Amino acid sequence: MEELLQKIEGYKQEIEAAKVTNADELEAFRIRYLGTKGLVKSVMAEMKNVPADKRKEFGLLLNDFKQFAEDKLEGLKMAANSSTHAASPEQDWSLPGDPLIVGTRHPLSIVRNQIVSIFKRLGFAVAEGPEIEDDWHNFTALNLPENHPARDMQDTFYLNQNPDYLLRTHTSSVQARVMEKQRPPIRIICPGRVYRNETISARAHCFFHQVEGLYVDDAVSFADLKQTLYFFVKEMFGADAKIRFRPSYFPFTEPSAEMDISCTVCGGKGCSLCKHTGWVEILGCGMVHPKMLENFKIDPESFTGFAFGMGIERICQLKYRINDLRLYSQNDVRFLRQFTGAV
Ligand code: PHE
Repeated sequence: MEELLQKIEGYKQEIEAAKVTNADELEAFRIRYLGTKGLVKSVMAEMKNVPADKRKEFGLLLNDFKQFAEDKLEGLKMAANSSTHAASPEQDWSLPGDPLIVGTRHPLSIVRNQIVSIFKRLGFAVAEGPEIEDDWHNFTALNLPENHPARDMQDTFYLNQNPDYLLRTHTSSVQARVMEKQRPPIRIICPGRVYRNETISARAHCFFHQVEGLYVDDAVSFADLKQTLYFFVKEMFGADAKIRFRPSYFPFTEPSAEMDISCTVCGGKGCSLCKHTGWVEILGCGMVHPKMLENFKIDPESFTGFAFGMGIERICQLKYRINDLRLYSQNDVRFLRQFTGAV
């Protein structure tokens, strides 16, 4: 009896420690312990030699032992199923794995992230607003009342159901929303998609992306605007990039300007990208019109501000030489895959 108990204990330890690495070994384990001529059966056969008064106790012990072996078999089976290693021993594990297809960030997202991170370093916060906008935030509040001729500068998509609503034509609408709620100092950038009713071609699209900026505080000057944009251009295009301002007109800024940078392709010598001028326009800007500040109950006697707005596609074109706007929205993987690894 003592001897038998020891035998069972020994088997249990063996079972406990058993490991299999493939289906054949798993089967061998089953045969050794739980097969018709297996060890569990052979121990059970000893029952007849056990004295009658010990049979009950011994029976329980045997059941326990059998259960122990069965549980282990189940465990080994599960482990084998979850690892193809054991399930398919014929595989060559030294072969290189299937390559993982890593997604790529869209070039517009890459450039937007870069623009945002440069302005964040200057203390600008990101503000966002709706793409379906009302007339007030997109036009009227920005010093573009109804029938103002400058409304024609941007061909607008109005909503059929209610022409008071439209698809925003610029993210200046977000500036309006921020000035409505926040008091100076205000220092924000507004990245987002905008819509204009233009025929789709290589150079125009019915939607594109902008980053606009707004800084309102006491004593903000045109010099601050220039310095801020100068910093941006150096960070974005490198230390050799030059900038120049040309007078322009926007209803919401006075004075207004357009900013050019030295051509990123020819460095200013003249090429087809810059139409042989050496310069390419990248943004519109100016000092916030006093009327606009008044619209938001910000006293133009106490506060001044600057604003600017640029197209992300344009910056992208200069950085990556992408010359057809349609590429951005065609989702052609051959185009998109070129940006693997960029952040
Ligand atoms: N909102 C103008 C546009 O979309 C850009 C701009 C913004 C110009 C701010 C001046 C100041 O064309």
